[in-house]
Amino acid sequence: MGAQQVRDVLGVRDGFAELYGAGPEGVWSAPGRVNLIGEHTDYNDGFVMPFALPHTTVAAVSRRTDGRLRLHSADVEGPAVELGLEGLAPGTDRTWTAYPAGVVWALREAGHPVTGADIHLASAVPAGAGLSSSAALEVVIALALDDLYELGLQRWQLARLCQRAENVYVGAPTGIMDQTASACCAEGHALFLDTRDLSQRQIPFDLAAEGLRLLVVDTRVQHAHSGGEYGRRRAGCEKGAALLGLDALRDVPQGGLDAALAELGDEEEVRRLVRHVVTEDARVERVVALLESGDTRAIGPVLTEGHASLRDDFRVSCPELDLVVDTALTAGALGARMTGGGFGGSAIVLAEAADTDTITKAVEAAFAAAGLTAPRVFEAVPGAGARRIG
Ligand code: GLA
Repeated sequence: MGAQQVRDVLGVRDGFAELYGAGPEGVWSAPGRVNLIGEHTDYNDGFVMPFALPHTTVAAVSRRTDGRLRLHSADVEGPAVELGLEGLAPGTDRTWTAYPAGVVWALREAGHPVTGADIHLASAVPAGAGLSSSAALEVVIALALDDLYELGLQRWQLARLCQRAENVYVGAPTGIMDQTASACCAEGHALFLDTRDLSQRQIPFDLAAEGLRLLVVDTRVQHAHSGGEYGRRRAGCEKGAALLGLDALRDVPQGGLDAALAELGDEEEVRRLVRHVVTEDARVERVVALLESGDTRAIGPVLTEGHASLRDDFRVSCPELDLVVDTALTAGALGARMTGGGFGGSAIVLAEAADTDTITKAVEAAFAAAGLTAPRVFEAVPGAGARRIG
């Protein structure tokens, strides 16, 4: 266990004891993620390739038997919030507590005998930055309760329950990528995930060994998925699949994009969405093939192509994300793209290790010149998935 993790465990244990009068039964952690490639494909039954960030949400948890749920976050001012399990109902909570409460609700709805909990959390996953702070929060609670109540659920089942919490309880129509990433990623690897059946393969992703680095640039433009744009894209994709007579856009056959676009006639918006999803699925498969053949540098242009597709066809980028990508490429990056849902949040930049300082400075200078809030830039090294740490 690293020094930071020891501090996390001790801090959250102390916080828990101060709040609730005794130490917790255990401490769990779950990471945020960045997505390497495969954006807006997960709700089309397609492919994604996220990896876990070293930034995690840590939760100290104990069971209760009286049907009460007490929630506290070190990152939010104020006392613990106390809720009755019987009163948990979708759409009733617009604050951060909807995420953990939603997980408890989803577990109980699925028939799992959860009778209450005391929870104290602390998170190092930047919120609203497109790095899946919500999924980290959901997954850490699901894993803790699965362990404590000995529910025996598989990781993919926890991810599905967390997605249900987010879709139904919180009301954000997201796919399954973020929760699965937080629950299933492995240190030093990217997760090649088929979101149709959640089958997965861990792909070794050790950039340092090849003299490369991957930067995350948080534009500081806040995004929110419960807002209408994400849902509109999703509905547009579903319309496309229905017009093509398919279950999901994943089912457009390889080589069948032109025929599908022709069939969509003058449905211009739907055609653009379909083109993104189909080409993006192919990009995930290209990146997997390149990584497995050891040709890591060659994934750069594929990432950049993915950005262009998200910007021009799917239309979920924003000027700040485009500025990061354009500036990084001009300053010598091998590839760059927005990551996550878009409309703000973060971009990723793949570069030779020796070039990352120049690129970081160029991006910071471009933001300053445009009068924007300074971006937050950090290196992302694939971390571990959710686990018990204390
Ligand atoms: C958000 C959602 C995911 C996924 C991405 C876009 O992160 O939570 O399910 O749809 O956007 O790839």
